[in-house]
Amino acid sequence: MTKSLITLRVNGELHTLAAEPHHTLLEVLREELGLTGTKHGCELGECGACTVLVDGRQVLSCLVLPQQIGLAEVTTVEGLANGPELHPLQIAFAEEGAAQCGYCTPGMLLSAKALLDAHPHPTREQMADTISGNLCRCTGYTSIYEAIEKAAAKPT
Ligand code: FES
Ligand code: FES
Repeated sequence: MTKSLITLRVNGELHTLAAEPHHTLLEVLREELGLTGTKHGCELGECGACTVLVDGRQVLSCLVLPQQIGLAEVTTVEGLANGPELHPLQIAFAEEGAAQCGYCTPGMLLSAKALLDAHPHPTREQMADTISGNLCRCTGYTSIYEAIEKAAAKPT
């Protein structure tokens, strides 16, 4: 199939690239831009491993074509840190053991960021609701809740 040119705004940078017209945002991020932090899981919208933010909202990148989002700002896990300075969520996840195999972690971090941006001091119920689409086979979720609470307690 003939590739077509698309322009995407990812982590603050504009990228114009040639991509297969049927390739999802997930495939373009990973295969064309080399941003492999976004994980390729079920490809069915069921696991949340591919979660990115589009204009600050959680989006399953396996279900979206890049043409659908235009020049909206895409944030991947690579865009979470501020240069060498990790995001408070990344620090808290490491300190609380909220990442084990780590496969769910990029999507989980981005969902947690969307939550804290909307609700700086979320309840456990709000946390559960927000990450309900991010499946984790390893942690049992308690450490993830504790990490989000720890990050929320830090001054921003
Ligand atoms: S890979 Fe997108 S939800 Fe599983
Ligand atoms: S840390 Fe392994 S799936 Fe979540």
